[in-house]
Amino acid sequence: MLRRTFLMLAAGVATLGVSAAAVSAQELPKLKQKDKYKVGFAQTESNNPWRIAQTESMKAEAAKLGYQLVYTDAAGSAAKQVADVNSMIAQGVDLIFLAPREEKPLIPAVMAAKKAGIPVILLDRNVDQSLAKAGKDYVTFIGSDFVEEGRRAAEALDKATNGTAKIIQLEGTTGSSPANDRRKGFEDYIKNKPGMKIIASQSGDFARDKGRQVAETLLQAHPDATAIYAHNDEMAIGAISALEAAGKKPGQDVQIVSIDGTRDALQAIIDGKMLATVECNPKFGPKAFETMARYAKGEQIEPWVVNTDRFFDKSNAKQLIADAY
Ligand code: AHR
Repeated sequence: MLRRTFLMLAAGVATLGVSAAAVSAQELPKLKQKDKYKVGFAQTESNNPWRIAQTESMKAEAAKLGYQLVYTDAAGSAAKQVADVNSMIAQGVDLIFLAPREEKPLIPAVMAAKKAGIPVILLDRNVDQSLAKAGKDYVTFIGSDFVEEGRRAAEALDKATNGTAKIIQLEGTTGSSPANDRRKGFEDYIKNKPGMKIIASQSGDFARDKGRQVAETLLQAHPDATAIYAHNDEMAIGAISALEAAGKKPGQDVQIVSIDGTRDALQAIIDGKMLATVECNPKFGPKAFETMARYAKGEQIEPWVVNTDRFFDKSNAKQLIADAY
């Protein structure tokens, strides 16, 4: 399977006129120090508040610095996102900020930018570490510790249920780093908790309506579920609708934990419908452009610029909702 994936990726890279061997032999492209830059930002999709907040933060920071931002929205398609990066390369941007929708399909885009001499900084999602590396193929990955987010969600559920829960897991986009890592963090934690079991797990693609539909189907098949772990708040909000449609009380009959920290999730916590959400901060603008400036100065950039995340539950949701997105 791995060999097949690699051959497909190598073919993808070759289609872009780059041989895999030639790409891997190259140095990481440098960035000249200039007053103004033309910078690309390749977004994955814009169908949720998290993505919209991230885009706003990137646009605001670029505007503040007086940089030209070439913005693209892949509309939920990894293939379109690869094409978007290729278009940025053709437009001669100085650097590309890329939020790779999935871990493997975006490798050819990273390699094509490298071949064209354009540095790439990965934002919020990572690529497959066996196929591309920070400091060699791209500058760095700026983002949260998704494994830790999953672990903290499991810990919150453990505390609230005294370690007893029949859990439905709503996974994020299949093949994306947050879905893979949030699953790992949560599942590793409950391995040592005999009373906590995942009874069903399916992708809701990080989307509210898909999350609602999947939760509806899984709740019909598993009416005994006592908890829902959603990989993001949008799916958690979808799950609340599914529970209410099934005549169940979210927050009472079924506990819900999630990740992000959106306004709707904080409101659901205040309303008693959700237990907690682990923050995943979307406001990347200042850190992204500051990292770019450090790179242009010739600083050695750490392979992972870590975002630290807060935690929201009934103890602080009311106090913090005014700043939520
Ligand atoms: O990559 C971060 C995740 O992507 C966020 O949790 C989610 O809401 C978004 O679509």
